Amino acid sequence: MRKIYKNLAKGDFNLSNESFYVTTPIYYVNDVPHIGHGYSTIIADTLARYKRLTDHNVLFLTGTDEHGQKVEKAARERGLSPQEHADLMVGPWKELWAKLEVSYDDFIRTTQERHVKAVQHIFQKLYEQGDIYKSFYEGWYCIHEETFYPESQLVEGCCPECGREVEWLKEESYFFKTSKYQNQLLEHIKKNPSFIQPDFRRNEVISFIEGGVQDISVSRTTFKWGIPVPFDSDHVIYVWFDALINYLSGCGFLIDEEKYRKFWPADVHVIGKDIIRFHAVIWPIMLMALGIELPKKILATGFWTLGGEKISKSKGIVIDPNRLIEEFGADAVRYFLLREISIGLDGEFTYEALVRRLNDDLANDLGNLVHRTVAMMIKYFNGEIPEAGELGQLEVSLKNEALELLQVVSESMERVDIREALVQIWRVVGRANKYIDEASPWVLAREGKIDHLKTVMRTLLETIRIIGILITPVMPDTARKIWEQLGQTNFASVTFKDARKWDGLVTGAVVKKAQPLFPRIELG
Ligand code: MSP
Repeated sequence: MRKIYKNLAKGDFNLSNESFYVTTPIYYVNDVPHIGHGYSTIIADTLARYKRLTDHNVLFLTGTDEHGQKVEKAARERGLSPQEHADLMVGPWKELWAKLEVSYDDFIRTTQERHVKAVQHIFQKLYEQGDIYKSFYEGWYCIHEETFYPESQLVEGCCPECGREVEWLKEESYFFKTSKYQNQLLEHIKKNPSFIQPDFRRNEVISFIEGGVQDISVSRTTFKWGIPVPFDSDHVIYVWFDALINYLSGCGFLIDEEKYRKFWPADVHVIGKDIIRFHAVIWPIMLMALGIELPKKILATGFWTLGGEKISKSKGIVIDPNRLIEEFGADAVRYFLLREISIGLDGEFTYEALVRRLNDDLANDLGNLVHRTVAMMIKYFNGEIPEAGELGQLEVSLKNEALELLQVVSESMERVDIREALVQIWRVVGRANKYIDEASPWVLAREGKIDHLKTVMRTLLETIRIIGILITPVMPDTARKIWEQLGQTNFASVTFKDARKWDGLVTGAVVKKAQPLFPRIELG
């Protein structure tokens, strides 16, 4: 990743054969997905697609978090065993990812054998080396968050995260010597500024660690639904200790040495801000204790809110992503979520904002550009793509902007600034629409200036081709449709490299008239 960035900085876009490993949080199966969950996954998917298009060997992992008291309770309420419940609940997640065009390479479930094995192995190892020890735990515990909270963090006696009642638990428990590694972790975070992103989250984590990290309880005896502690069957392993290990068990740890070597350490863990301490404190410390390299980046997103409150099933504030996809299409939803806010910040979800983006950016700007161009091609040339003659000043200027886009977009993507990448692409979409008015193909046609008309249309088509390539990570389906409308056949083999050359279209291919990419939505 860094290598490619250096090359880009020199203006020399180089493709690489490096591997790239990106993960999403694994989602609890006690509930069905809402749009907030979709967000982390869409970000990870966009990064995975971008890396595949720059010739990386990608492993994109998502999955489900199936153990713990919360899942056990949800299963009991439905009269099912926890495993039966998990088997049923995994369906809606996989279905949503399919509808959202999420191109994961592997889907890990924490009840799978490969995972259970890895967790038990790690627990045993840490115990044997003295980093896990037995003691007693007493404290306030929130079942919903599966977390103990110190008294000082409670809000009016309730869970600071979800506001539910907490219980006082006293139980025998195994503890993980988190405190032992805090200085080593602090040093790592300070030395590696891009390890935790965005920066303001990094600073929060630094102050948290400087405040002192307590050893954490990593086993439970009060319920059964978890991975048994290998040497003590009264205990099940704490769900977070279990869940974090998915990032290892999902990339071949213990079972596929070659895969593991190829992909670990992970390049990016995409997570929400509420689970940053688990990922930026506990997880790295687990890895340090094991002598395993740390992930390169932990990217914490903000929350999607509704009426200022986090969208959350448990609070009854939900947006059903399935309905949005049915109404607007997966690409429009993906575009909206990625374009509307910068990663890291919270965003208020409104129907109006979504419709506005859809109408303005997608229907008017991109959709119209493609639609007008294809319609003119059919009208003037029966759709057959002509060769360009000599480019005039206007054409050269548009061509240069389109060709520069690859570098600008790639730099933004390397910084994981997907929003900026989209802003830059839409700058050229706007430029191309303006060019149509400036070049006025209809005047050229009327005046019989056919050679120049050919040049104008080819310039537009090439610009659209480049735009089509560069939007692929965010809007794969739209990109494919654009490709088809351009009469090109090789979409599956297109890569970002194809956006650095002009004249990439097959001359003589016939553009195809199609439905507008994005119909305008009237606000009811
Ligand atoms: N199972 C744990 C994660 C374990 S990872 C080793 C978990 N699961 S979750 O299903 O509750 O949440 C998964 C992710 O969805 C979290 O990163 C959380 O931040 C994210 N989101 C849940 N609601 C959200 C919004 N309203 N907005 C954005 N993301 C939010 O936590």
